[in-house]
Amino acid sequence: MAAYEYETHEYDVVVVGAGGAGLRATLGMAEQGLRTACITKVFPTRSHTVAAQGGIAASLSNMGPDHWQWHLYDTVKGSDWLGDTDAMEYLAREAPKAVYELEHYGVPFSRTEEGKIYQRPFGGHTTEFGEGPAVQRTCAAADRTGHAILHTLYGQSLKNNAEFYIEYFAIDLIMSDDGVCQGVLCWKLDDGTMHMFSAKMVVLATGGYGRAYFSATSAHTCTGDGGGMTARAGLPLQDMEFVQFHPTGIYGAGCLITEGARGEGGYLTNSEGERFMERYAPQYKDLAPRDYVSRCMTMEIREGRGVGASGDHIHLNLNHLPKETLDLRLPGISESARVFAGVDLTKEPIPVLPTVHYNMGGIPTNYWGEVLNPTADTPDAVSPGLMAVGEAGCASVHGANRLGSNSLIDLVVFGRAAAIRAGEIVDPSTPVPTPNQKSVDAAFERFDNTRHAKGHTPTAALRMEMQQTMQKDAAVFRANDTLAEGKAKMDEVAAKWSDIGVTDRSLVWNSDLMETLELANLIPNAVATITGAEARKESRGAHAHEDFPERDDENWRKHSLTWFNGKNEARLSYRGVHLQPLTSHNDGGIDPKKIAPKVRNF
Ligand code: FUM
Repeated sequence: MAAYEYETHEYDVVVVGAGGAGLRATLGMAEQGLRTACITKVFPTRSHTVAAQGGIAASLSNMGPDHWQWHLYDTVKGSDWLGDTDAMEYLAREAPKAVYELEHYGVPFSRTEEGKIYQRPFGGHTTEFGEGPAVQRTCAAADRTGHAILHTLYGQSLKNNAEFYIEYFAIDLIMSDDGVCQGVLCWKLDDGTMHMFSAKMVVLATGGYGRAYFSATSAHTCTGDGGGMTARAGLPLQDMEFVQFHPTGIYGAGCLITEGARGEGGYLTNSEGERFMERYAPQYKDLAPRDYVSRCMTMEIREGRGVGASGDHIHLNLNHLPKETLDLRLPGISESARVFAGVDLTKEPIPVLPTVHYNMGGIPTNYWGEVLNPTADTPDAVSPGLMAVGEAGCASVHGANRLGSNSLIDLVVFGRAAAIRAGEIVDPSTPVPTPNQKSVDAAFERFDNTRHAKGHTPTAALRMEMQQTMQKDAAVFRANDTLAEGKAKMDEVAAKWSDIGVTDRSLVWNSDLMETLELANLIPNAVATITGAEARKESRGAHAHEDFPERDDENWRKHSLTWFNGKNEARLSYRGVHLQPLTSHNDGGIDPKKIAPKVRNF
């Protein structure tokens, strides 16, 4: 192995990733005086949160009656009863506080006539524990809410003296022999230098792994880097079989058209011009939750009522909306429709298709963001020195299906929670741990082996094989035969890693090497997804299994955990769902009867 020199850096906290969760954690840490570094492979305001359009859920009641318990109920039902109740209560209760903090930090929310934060309807958000009409709970900055949040949080983090390491790629976690995370080894992309960041707490905020699929709304940077590093550190990934398809990705391009479009009055039609969601979801129609709308669209296409020359997509209609609404509330998607679909949405419908959008699964954590290392006897045991927040983590508030606009609120609530927790357990006066040399050497060895890989399989070819397999076999609808085939093919993809070939051996702006390291991260995420899906013999949320069409709470109301050996071979175990809310009913908490499992209809 080549000998690598490296620079060392010491911090109280190192946050990996500068999207909404990473920046909210960074800001919260820095505000408390913790010496905080944020390491990111892209410039912070180019992180994927910038693409979040429609808004952030919180029961502010600005547009009509709302209550945190209604938000909790909707989140429990949206999760198809797989979310952890304590974490979901924490999310719903803390959401208004977290949004008002964003407002005070300077997020330029859209406003009502009276100057309050504007809120729009989003799928699955209702009133009266699902008995009342849809609620306007999603706080919006036009249709560029993520963009607004990201810019504000980055500015505030700088103001609070957080230090940014931009275009640094995290290679591996550095772990002590007894399993304490001590830091992260990084490669600086623009000059090829290597950097060892030691810290008392490492926070993974690396986002999802949408790019394990061929077509996704996610940025090309969404390569599950945190999940990959965690799997290599011998820790499990949780609930990876649950992958969300957003109903309205632009047909062909895959870019997002926000659910806010339907919130503002848009609707879907089939080749007969029928507003078919009225048939499937009489109460909430186009504002039913995403997993359900995506399935209904897929059924319409399968039954021959898709639009277009090949009958393989659906129309989203917005041309009936007043121009002022489009200009004021949906300017971003007006542009996206023009650029990516060639459509003037004041005149024509947008061609759309369910498109991979979000990973409900991720690195298991408690609701403080602390990573778990579960055993049969201690299912909630914490892995010291390591946190995960945002899409990289799995707290688990989304269970088997996330409600639209519950992602941005997850980012800020749990980014903030991680900072609160770190403020309690990280002592700035103690020394930063000396990194375990064995672990540092192992990280360099893996990096060097990848850099000098001389196999015959180009990275792009293996990545395409993975993406096509996942797209075909871990889709909106799944079945025994497709899942078995997908699992076998993904096992082959993982095995072919030993034949990977990298052609560029340099260290400066080597995109061949970076994409190969990203593929190394994507593979365990994809293997965990198909392995968990193949094993789960029921339908729940985004996991629609045609051979097991019912939810089976008796056998399957449990989180899956996927563990890896050094060869990307997966092993499954399970842990129980947290059924207890944080607050008892007598102390003002939700009545447990309200969130007892029942048939999920709309
Ligand atoms: O449709 C959207 O604007 C996406 C929001 C989300 O995923 O929460």
